[in-house]
Amino acid sequence: MSNNLIFSGIQPTGNLHLGNYLGAIRNWVKLQHDFDCIFCVVDLHAITIPQDPAVLRSSIREVAAGMIAAGVDPKKNILFNQSRVPAHAELAWVLNCIARIGWLNRMTQFKDKAGKNRDNATVGLYVYPNLMAADILAYKATHVPVGDDQKQHLELARDIAQAFNSQFGVDFFPLPEPQIFKTAARVMSLRDGTKKMSKSDASDQSRINLTDGPDEIAQKLKRAKTDPLPLPETEAELEDRPEAANLIGIYAALSDRSAAEVVAEFAGKGFAEFKPRLAELAVSVLGPIGLEMQRLTKDPGYVDQVLREGGEKANAIAAPIVDQVHDIVGF
Ligand code: ADP
Ligand code: NA
Repeated sequence: MSNNLIFSGIQPTGNLHLGNYLGAIRNWVKLQHDFDCIFCVVDLHAITIPQDPAVLRSSIREVAAGMIAAGVDPKKNILFNQSRVPAHAELAWVLNCIARIGWLNRMTQFKDKAGKNRDNATVGLYVYPNLMAADILAYKATHVPVGDDQKQHLELARDIAQAFNSQFGVDFFPLPEPQIFKTAARVMSLRDGTKKMSKSDASDQSRINLTDGPDEIAQKLKRAKTDPLPLPETEAELEDRPEAANLIGIYAALSDRSAAEVVAEFAGKGFAEFKPRLAELAVSVLGPIGLEMQRLTKDPGYVDQVLREGGEKANAIAAPIVDQVHDIVGF
């Protein structure tokens, strides 16, 4: 259809949530019809922070099941988990020898994730962006749909690709372009409108998981933090009301409407009226996905087969590219 190749990844580190769905997976489902897409469960990235092996094993299946349940079609795309394809780790090593310490020192996500005791963070967490560059470049992917949070890492991947090309005097790696989706680029925590909804948030009340049932979804939204004012009359008023902005943004994304339309519909109404409507909408979109996910995780044979076959297809693309890289480097 085109020469564009999309690569995107998701970590198998816990519950898939509404932010992953609206910010990533739902966009992948739309892209798969028009582009060649490679979707990767990035398990090598997950171990940059200690993982329980049994939990990791089941999270890999769960994340893959969530993607399939949400509509990522394994026949239309390549869907696999990263550790199956040696090219990722092999190319990451070469890129470790291209990227500079000073470039990595600028990465804000490392600073956030490593916290105060930086000396105790794993080396893997530090070079995580080099592995992400390898994920993309091992396929010579041209486009990478990313949330706001990954923009800096993608910039680094471009810098590394360019540095490789110039060090060896080749025009080998294309510079991957970010694809940022405007709606729901950042779904915020239900408990704190200034933090992003995340799998790693200790409070399960902060996020809506794709496996949550109707009652859980309604309860979490009922308890979601809001200010005491009624819903705003204009979109401009949302600027200093992060919780209201987040809930309206979620409503808009789930109903495929603009925030302005949602503001107009609920102008001046109370959250006590809005929240049950949002819950109803969320249940109608997420309910079927959660049920399908449960069905798929009960019978992991199918998911394992998808990952195995996806891994073979991914390897067939990436292995020859890494062979060429080795040749360029001089092995
Ligand atoms: P998490 O931050 O929950 O661990 P990942 O880092 O695995 O999630 O991200 C997987 C994908 O989901 C990425 O494309 C990321 O940009 C997107 N994503 C994660 N959290 C959110 C959020 N709160 N809002 C929008 N998109 C998100
Ligand atoms: Na496709």
